[in-house]
Amino acid sequence: MTHEHSEFYGNDSKAAPAFATAVLAGLSKQQKTLPCEFFYDARGSELFEAITALPEYYPTRTETAILTQYAPEIAAGTPPGAILVEFGSGSSVKTEILLRALKGLSAYVPVDVSSSALALARDRLIRHFPDLRVHGVEGDFRAGLTLPVELSGKPRLGFFPGSTIGNFTPIKAARLLQVFARNLGHGARLIIGVDLLKDEGRLVSAYDDAAGVTAAFNLNLLERANRELGADFDIAGFGHKAIFNRSLGRIEMHLVSRTRQSVTVLGRSFAFGPGETIHTENSHKYTVAGFYNLTRGAGWIPTRVWTDADDLFSVHELVLKA
Ligand SMILES: C[S@@+](CC[C@H](N)C(=O)[O-])C[C@H]1O[C@@H](n2cnc3c(N)ncnc32)[C@H](O)[C@@H]1O
Repeated sequence: MTHEHSEFYGNDSKAAPAFATAVLAGLSKQQKTLPCEFFYDARGSELFEAITALPEYYPTRTETAILTQYAPEIAAGTPPGAILVEFGSGSSVKTEILLRALKGLSAYVPVDVSSSALALARDRLIRHFPDLRVHGVEGDFRAGLTLPVELSGKPRLGFFPGSTIGNFTPIKAARLLQVFARNLGHGARLIIGVDLLKDEGRLVSAYDDAAGVTAAFNLNLLERANRELGADFDIAGFGHKAIFNRSLGRIEMHLVSRTRQSVTVLGRSFAFGPGETIHTENSHKYTVAGFYNLTRGAGWIPTRVWTDADDLFSVHELVLKA
């Protein structure tokens, strides 16, 4: 393996036109929305890391424990020279568990929209794994993946932890798994973390913690619009709300307008009534059987699943026919 710094450098500025388009379109809808991939600017990524350490937020520590316990099993059978492709890599902290267990990788390819998260992860990984080639890709994991020619023919192991799949409706999640199948190729494996359905109280408090960190994370979307688009959101005029939508099996996060108010973004004015919400995130929860059905419908074969003793979280292995 060669020692090489990631080919990735930069800041979050590339996202600005896409963010502007998304904010204007989202605030024009009947049910106002802001898409969740824009949570992760530098401040949002920092707040997300703080969320992962909260007592109420069981997903990160549970998934980390599952990965730690089963890393040798998960790594077994990975062909020598393979590349590890992580979709929505964020801090790449969980990745280190797999990287320690995987021997003879050609490269690690983190894919994320957040350039600041990629840069921080790259700096740390280069220190912890000096022989590992890290080829960061700043971009949307819903798009095709182009790799340098010397990496393009290598077998690929996909990694999609963090239950990021839950941010998509089941139909869009199935489409995303089809995109991953195309990007990983025949015979590939995908290791994917999926949060499990459980009692409502536990779910809601994970997304509405006592210290208000998730509220700050949600409100950062409005602060980001003020910073990057010159919008004039009065941050104190909005509150955070997390609800469990039982019929759709998902936690929804909203920003709630406390009063009648109007906000200007890029010269356009948007009116809010008292109690009106901006829907910012969905986090779908699955049973193991329900997730198997979703993956099969997307052309993957679910082969193994690892869970914790309390059935809070699941890590699945999916394979594509060679
Ligand atoms: C919930 S965090 C998970 C981070 C990390 N994988 C973990 O498990 O701790 C989701 C990550 O996905 C990234 N992300 C969200 N939507 C994305 C998209 N459409 N394309 C690329 N990255 C995306 C975010 O920037 C963020 O770093």
